[in-house]
Amino acid sequence: MCGIFGYTGRKEAQPLIIQGLKHLEYRGYDSSGVAIQNGLYSIAFEKTRGKIKNLEEALRRHPLGGHTAIGHTRWATHGTPNQLNAHPHLDNENKIAVVHNGIIENYAHLKEKLKKSGARFRSETDTEVIVHLIAKYYRDDLESAVRRALKDIRGTYAIAVICSKEPGRIVAAKLDSPLVVGIGDKENFLASDVSALLEHTNQVIFVENGDLIVINRDSVKLTNLSGRPVHRPSVKVDWNVAQAKKGGFPHFMIKEIFEQPGIVTAILRERIRNAKIHFDELKITASEFKKIKKIVVIACGTAYHAGLVGKYILEAFADIPVGVDTSSEFRYRNPKVGKDTLVIAISQSGETADTLAGLREAKAKGALTLVICNVLASSLSREAGGVIYTHAGPEIAVASTKAYTAQLALLYLLGFYFAGIFKTLPNSKMRKLLKEFFQIPSKMQRILELYKREETEWAKNAHDFNKRYHAQLEKYFSTDPLKRKRSPNGFFLYLGRGINFPNALEGALKLKEIAYIPAEGYPAGEMKHGPIALIDENPWVICIAPASGTYEKMISNIQEIKARGGIIIPIITEGDNQMRKLNPLYSIEIPRCSELFSPLVTVLPLQLIAYCAAREFGEDIDQPRNLAKSVTVE
Ligand code: M6R
Repeated sequence: MCGIFGYTGRKEAQPLIIQGLKHLEYRGYDSSGVAIQNGLYSIAFEKTRGKIKNLEEALRRHPLGGHTAIGHTRWATHGTPNQLNAHPHLDNENKIAVVHNGIIENYAHLKEKLKKSGARFRSETDTEVIVHLIAKYYRDDLESAVRRALKDIRGTYAIAVICSKEPGRIVAAKLDSPLVVGIGDKENFLASDVSALLEHTNQVIFVENGDLIVINRDSVKLTNLSGRPVHRPSVKVDWNVAQAKKGGFPHFMIKEIFEQPGIVTAILRERIRNAKIHFDELKITASEFKKIKKIVVIACGTAYHAGLVGKYILEAFADIPVGVDTSSEFRYRNPKVGKDTLVIAISQSGETADTLAGLREAKAKGALTLVICNVLASSLSREAGGVIYTHAGPEIAVASTKAYTAQLALLYLLGFYFAGIFKTLPNSKMRKLLKEFFQIPSKMQRILELYKREETEWAKNAHDFNKRYHAQLEKYFSTDPLKRKRSPNGFFLYLGRGINFPNALEGALKLKEIAYIPAEGYPAGEMKHGPIALIDENPWVICIAPASGTYEKMISNIQEIKARGGIIIPIITEGDNQMRKLNPLYSIEIPRCSELFSPLVTVLPLQLIAYCAAREFGEDIDQPRNLAKSVTVE
């Protein structure tokens, strides 16, 4: 939630801040701002409502010169998204400026006290108390003032602070919100994540909770909140700048969809050596795993759907009971986990507040914890007992795609790994399954090639859908009672069974979040217990129906929908003639593959459907409204 970028060096800071914020825009994009030391008594700043291009435009008209600056892109928590609430926030005299990512829980109390001592508040944000506190404690030493101010604050933060009286210096601090230092040549950077630094450096320091950082052009100093020096190693990250760019694709989302077969191939190559699974970074031993009697997966959003697929995989491979919970439910439920439980947290960002809280809860109850995560040195990966990285490269689009398939790939491998430890699969079966797994990326690739070949057709279908959809809406909202239909308006139902049921949830989530079309995912067998009442000629029913043990059942479920006039769009295995007889509106064929691995293949058309619908509707695909890439608040 929110992105922070800071620069100090010899270069003009303004363009660097704008460029850095653009890389972080996926974290929040309702307003943005920049504060620069320009050698005068007060700090120069600019803030605008809306996307970073508005800030860029404002700065083009009134550029701010200077070599040390901090910037912010916001996802509003306290206070509506407007110019006043945008960061940076400044003290009464505009000599200190702060940007902040996180939530200050005791801000109301602090605000009242500060107001009484003369602080003039200009915004409705929780953040503004930080700058007034720092100003209150400032005695010609910004570092000490920040340290003192943080003692009064309760909540979570990554902050960056500059003061007009201390040229070339940025003071920053972190508690439960991400912050990375980028080390350059006679210049240093701060950012909420690594992807924003890659244009300048891949030498970084991952800051830890409780650290206070002072960066100047030539130095980086880290201490704890009591002022004692702390040492954090500088690390070379293997992400590159090309991964954080669109590379010729119109959107990050479609670029990331197309990266998936390559990512799964890379995961297989990295993790399988001599027919054995290797998790070099894992830190948990086989004997520790042997003590567990059950597994609980916690995650949010798309990562939760990966966890649901994981349940099928781990139960099938490792013959162990697996429960799956959304992190926000798990953490408040006094969950029954203990020493005999392995809690697996799944998260792309590794920063999701609910998952982090769930992990802490599990640790407090004595459970063994493991995180499957994409972002190196993220909070979850640091706090969990063990970590497995997905190595999918930076995922920039807010709608998660490649992280999902990478998480699935790792869950299959974890299944194999456990099968080895618990001796639940004979070697011959393991070898057969692994061989099959190696063929999956090429099957995923075939779907993408089909899409490329038939892109015009997909776009035409999306256009056709758009027309029908709006015609349906017109009927629904018509003021003419004869035209008005007493039925739900156009929406999508996604149906799946077994290991493909979670993909029904995932397909619906993708459509909701980027095309803003109401959509529901359902286990097909549940339709008759209620939702079938919704069926008439209005909903569009996407049926995930590849060859599987429940294919015949799926056909019956689809027949029931057809019998009630429903529009069906099945995802079927190539050569499936039975489904054609049901006269679908369109059908999407996927290469033949075993049911067990099919979620890695069936999810691709679902991602592409959402992408095409959002593009047809002209939506902002990479930065959908109201969302942010990582949800670091509850
Ligand atoms: O970073 P995480 O994987 O923990 O994020 C979890 C969810 O916030 C995330 O999957 C969200 O649902 C995506 N926008 C889905 O596309």
